[in-house]
Amino acid sequence: MSPTSRHILAAPAWPYANGPRHIGHVSGFGLPCDMFARYQRMAGHKVLMVSGTDEHGTPIQVQADAEGVTARQLADRYNGVITRDLLGLDMSYDLFTRTTTRNHYAVTQELFSGLLANGYIFARTTKGAISPSTGRTLPDRYIEGTCPICGYDSARGDQCDNCGNQLDPIDLINPRSKINGETPVFADTEQFFLDLPAFTDVLGTWLKQKQGSWRPNVLNFSLNLLDDLRPRAITRDIDWGVPVPLDGWRDRPDKRIYVWFDAVIGYLSAAIEWSRRVGDPDAWRAWWQSDEAESYYFMGKDNIVFHSEIWPAMLLGYSGKGARDGQPGSLGALNLPTEVVSSEFLTMEGRKFSSSRAVVIYVRDFLARYDVDALRYYVAVAGPENTDTDFTWSEFVRRNNDELVATWGNLVNRSVSFAARNIGEIPGPGTLTDADQQALARSRQAFELIGGHLGRSRFKAAITESMRTVAEANKYMSDQAPWKLRESDPERMRTILHVVLQLVDDAKTLMTPFLPRSAEKVYRMLGGEGGWAGLPRIDEVDEDGGAPYPVITGEYSGVGRWQPAPVRPGTPLAPPEPLFAKLDQSVVDEELARLREQG
Ligand code: MF3
Ligand code: ZN
Repeated sequence: MSPTSRHILAAPAWPYANGPRHIGHVSGFGLPCDMFARYQRMAGHKVLMVSGTDEHGTPIQVQADAEGVTARQLADRYNGVITRDLLGLDMSYDLFTRTTTRNHYAVTQELFSGLLANGYIFARTTKGAISPSTGRTLPDRYIEGTCPICGYDSARGDQCDNCGNQLDPIDLINPRSKINGETPVFADTEQFFLDLPAFTDVLGTWLKQKQGSWRPNVLNFSLNLLDDLRPRAITRDIDWGVPVPLDGWRDRPDKRIYVWFDAVIGYLSAAIEWSRRVGDPDAWRAWWQSDEAESYYFMGKDNIVFHSEIWPAMLLGYSGKGARDGQPGSLGALNLPTEVVSSEFLTMEGRKFSSSRAVVIYVRDFLARYDVDALRYYVAVAGPENTDTDFTWSEFVRRNNDELVATWGNLVNRSVSFAARNIGEIPGPGTLTDADQQALARSRQAFELIGGHLGRSRFKAAITESMRTVAEANKYMSDQAPWKLRESDPERMRTILHVVLQLVDDAKTLMTPFLPRSAEKVYRMLGGEGGWAGLPRIDEVDEDGGAPYPVITGEYSGVGRWQPAPVRPGTPLAPPEPLFAKLDQSVVDEELARLREQG
């Protein structure tokens, strides 16, 4: 166990508020971040897990146009939908908020101003798109053309949805207006730029220290970016976003801060919002400004550049630590990420997830039909942790039935029902044999091993080892065969059951980061009182009488500890409900038929 309690920021990427979440959105980073945060809390650390919906920019505007509503209406709608999706997944956010709060606007503008004051943001004249028929600025989202990087012919002015690269409208080949098909003309316009080249050296020094601790793909990708850092536009021709906090800009309806610039600041603004909500306005500083604090950012690989290059550059510049030095802004100097943890992509039945092409299973539909822990187990054991990975329904059913139900569900079920029926309570131990001692010792040792994996975001290794521990408990019970001793040696039977129930109790602790809801059930089965896993809730909040919005939050400080705890002989036991549902093979055909119907 760790001798000291550390401050750990767990920062999962902010989902765009442009549609319900599907399992591709949450498998790579959302659920893994929750597993990491849950483990760190159980290990006794002070975890702050914050995120929210990402509500600005063209992704929101384009979808709002498609649904015939304003960007604000769309953001409100999907903020609510996504909040419920994530609650259903038992994501233990300390605060899940949104980017359209006054607090977020103020913190975003503060970072912009601080970077500007230190000389890391400058205005530059560039070419902006104009509609020749109206003479007016053509916002980025109305420009479409061929992607210069991958050749996709419907890339947007700001981003290519095929290869995921960020673009400028002027980069597009054959640009055209989505409104009337005309070819835009490009005329001089001013935008603000973040001076990334001023951070090449500091970023390089920082990244090189991460050798050996970051996943190699993330580190190599990030190091490669340093070869060609260029100033990056951080304002855009759009009317939906955070206003530029400068006279002559603040009130312009056609210029806003670029969505990615404000979104990454969300991690900080949400920590500040959380501090206010808990009545300790400076509490966030312990996670952002102490030398001892650690921060772990979880995202898909298309977001690496923003988390390992742009956000660190913003943090450094605001803190006065780039090539031009400077002073920390009024919030004070801010910490760089300890680790950028990126996952690879999840596909579904061999195809890219796509809401528009209906290659999709939404979180809420999934949860209406299957247990949340069946999904969480699948993600831990077969998620896209290190390579692109395909979700298939047959694999989901197999993993659920042959692994989750057959191993962990079975151990809980057979041990608790046998003890309930034959004894009615947790029995006390008699003399322990070598086999008993070994089984208990092996279970105790699993904590350090699995905790080590979880602390380094090795989820597959961690769940595999947890399942191995459960399999050993199953084997112990089968080898000892307490059912044969009912008549001949009831004392020995009681000892075996005591040991088995201790192994079950240990295993439920080991499973808690992955499968909090079923762990909570096992905790109660074995007589636990109060909360164990720490399950989140939704609160309706507002800012000084502003419009109310839902946030996810929770009371996680009383959660169970990452250590074996002795079971209490005499605790009454009732025959358990099955922990997980076994799925019929027909599920595979049904789900594949659903996909075909939609697609
Ligand atoms: N909304 C972005 C996406 O879905 C992720 C934003 S992560 C943050 O790709 F860092 F900006 F918050
Ligand atoms: Zn492309």
